Amino acid sequence: MKVLLIGSGGREHALAWKIAQSPLLDALYAAPGNPGIADHATLVELNVEDHAAVIAFAKEKAIDFVVIGPEAPLVAGLADDLRAVGIATFGPSKAAAQLEGSKGFTKDLCARYDIPTGAYQRFKSAEPAKDYVRAQGAPIVIKADGLAAGKGVTVAMTEAEALAAIDDCFDGAFGAAGAEVVVEAFLDGEEASFFCLSDGKTALALATAQDHKRVGDGDTGPNTGGMGAYSPAPVMTATMVERTMKEIIEPTISGMAKDGNPFSGVFFAGLMITAKGPELIEYNVRFGDPECQVLMMRLKSDLLPILYATATGTLDRVDAEWRDEAALTIVLASKGYPGAYDKNTPIAHIPEASEEAKVFHAGTALKGDRLVATGGRVLNVTALGKTVTEAQAHAYALADRVEWENGFCRRDIGWQAVAREKA
Ligand code: AMP
Ligand code: GLY
Repeated sequence: MKVLLIGSGGREHALAWKIAQSPLLDALYAAPGNPGIADHATLVELNVEDHAAVIAFAKEKAIDFVVIGPEAPLVAGLADDLRAVGIATFGPSKAAAQLEGSKGFTKDLCARYDIPTGAYQRFKSAEPAKDYVRAQGAPIVIKADGLAAGKGVTVAMTEAEALAAIDDCFDGAFGAAGAEVVVEAFLDGEEASFFCLSDGKTALALATAQDHKRVGDGDTGPNTGGMGAYSPAPVMTATMVERTMKEIIEPTISGMAKDGNPFSGVFFAGLMITAKGPELIEYNVRFGDPECQVLMMRLKSDLLPILYATATGTLDRVDAEWRDEAALTIVLASKGYPGAYDKNTPIAHIPEASEEAKVFHAGTALKGDRLVATGGRVLNVTALGKTVTEAQAHAYALADRVEWENGFCRRDIGWQAVAREKA
């Protein structure tokens, strides 16, 4: 099979690494990819926003299958355009990608199909939103409706904070994404990420993971795209997984189909495990980054036929097997991230991979033959272990061998699971 992978982050490096191990693979291309992905794929300079150019390339190389990593091309309808010319594509249609692209869309779906989530209302202007906040009281959550690079959500512990967040949205802090606002009840509990494939009819549960959103140790400082993750998430017991499938995923699949937007691709469900059980915080319609890195380390099965079955409506014929070990990934980021940071700082050394550990590239580039850091989140040091505690020790030992002066990482990735394992 000839495969084209779209994307350039640590998520796509993990996908490329796994796809490259498939005996079914004849050729792997990545657009635009990164220097780590270049170990497994031929990099292609394509403007992914130019769907006609992507289609022309796919035709020229007789690509059988396109895997779309990030959300932006999905929300822009790249999967629809590829499928329209007969190219099998992993990733939802533009209509189904609204599950991530519009928080209001997802909340309305939850309301229609009785999917557990926080009570909410949608607003197109500030005053009625503020009246609703005043009536409900704090804590309360304010969300820009559209894609805001993970920054459009304010968990307001006070009414004043909530009112300010509403003003921010309508004053354009998140551009068009904030033209509509969702005000949502605060859910109290432990968060977990749950991943599940669907071909529009069948669901295949993957694994669970826990992200670390805040930049600083002890979950302090501003939110980021994610500073590290581990899998599995202990809060997602077999019972919680079963309840999530029955109460959240299955009604989503049937509801989306009933509404004329059948979903094919990966559900990345952000859950809050509350006293009542699993409740949906949000859906993403692509793999999490860095959650994908730990999932790929733990996946024993060949990834390629699983993704292909998802895209071609034959998910009932495949299964996914997982290693019993835990996996943990540490994000090495440029000093200053998520604020301003220097670009093109040199990375002198990245340690060799092994069966049990691997450094994925997220924001790197080659300047001549020198590897440099170009992004905020730059490397994902990922390791397996019998326990999260062991995976954490392996990952930090490896991270400490990376030679990159301008890099930093959190030193406590996995702390909740490690505390549980010690208890
Ligand atoms: P999001 O960008 O939608 O993932 O939201 C960012 C973070 O805000 C989530 O990971 C949660 O920690 C938090 N959050 C979002 N919605 C709620 C809610 N209804 N109750 C409590 N926390 C929330
Ligand atoms: N790590 C969170 C995300 O990919 O959205």
